[in-house]
Amino acid sequence: MKEVDPTSERHGNSSPSATPTVSSGAPTPEITIRVLKPDDAEAVRRLHERLSDSDRYRRFCGPGPKRVETLATLICQRDAGYYALGAFEDDTLVGVAHYVVVDRRRGHRTAEFALVVDGHEQRHGIGTILLRRLCMDAYTHGLDHLTAQILAENNLMLAVIAEQGLADALHPEGAVVYFDLDLHRRGN
Ligand SMILES: CC(C)(COP(=O)(O)OP(=O)(O)OC[C@H]1O[C@@H](n2cnc3c(N)ncnc32)[C@H](O)[C@@H]1OP(=O)(O)O)[C@@H](O)C(=O)NCCC(=O)NCCS
Repeated sequence: MKEVDPTSERHGNSSPSATPTVSSGAPTPEITIRVLKPDDAEAVRRLHERLSDSDRYRRFCGPGPKRVETLATLICQRDAGYYALGAFEDDTLVGVAHYVVVDRRRGHRTAEFALVVDGHEQRHGIGTILLRRLCMDAYTHGLDHLTAQILAENNLMLAVIAEQGLADALHPEGAVVYFDLDLHRRGN
C-alpha cells in the first residue's frame, strides 16, 4: 500500500456515497490510481508513444496527433477544464483516463473523456477501474454528462462500458458509437 495522496486510491478501496451506479472492478492490488499533475506529462507521453498502431488508432478514433507531448501537457494540467487520472504499477504509468469540459452551461455541463491502458497491462481490470473512478469524480465535480466517441469496432472498450451497466448510454451511428452518460440519472 503506497497511498499518501487523498486524491489517490488503491484499486478497489473507494466507496463514495453519492456516485454514479457503476459496479466495482475486480481487484488488482498492485495498481494505484491517483490524479495526474503537470510532473506526470512525460510519463503520459511515454505511455502514448508505447501504444501499438491499433491501440493508438482506437484511442484517437484515427491516427492521433503528431505531437503527443502537447496532448500530454494538456492532459496533466489541473485547470482549463482538464482532469486526469493515472493508474500506476509501482512507479510506472500504465493507464490514463482523462476528461475535458466541453460545455459549461448550467444543467448541461459536459466533459468528453478518453481512456487508454498500456498494451501488456490490458485485460487486467485497469480500464474498468479508471472508468469507474472517472465517472465518480465527474459526478463529484458537478458535471451533468460524460461523453465519448468510440469506434464501433472497439469491442473491448464497449465491453468495459457494458460491464459497468452503462450500455444504455451507448448510441451507435455507423462506424462510431457515441457515449453520453447522464451522471445525475446514474447517481440516483
Ligand atoms: C479499451 C481499454 C481502455 C480497456 O482497458 P482494459 O484495462 O484492457 O480493460 P479491463 O481489463 O478493465 O476490461 C477488459 C476485459 O478484462 C476483463 N477483466 C476485468 N477485470 C479483470 C481482471 N482483474 N483480470 C482479468 N481480466 C479482467 C473484463 O471483464 C473485460 O473482459 P471482456 O473483454 O471479456 O469483457 C484498453 O484496451 C485500451 O487502452 N485500448 C486502446 C485504447 C482505446 O481503445 N481506448 C478507448 C477510447 S475511448
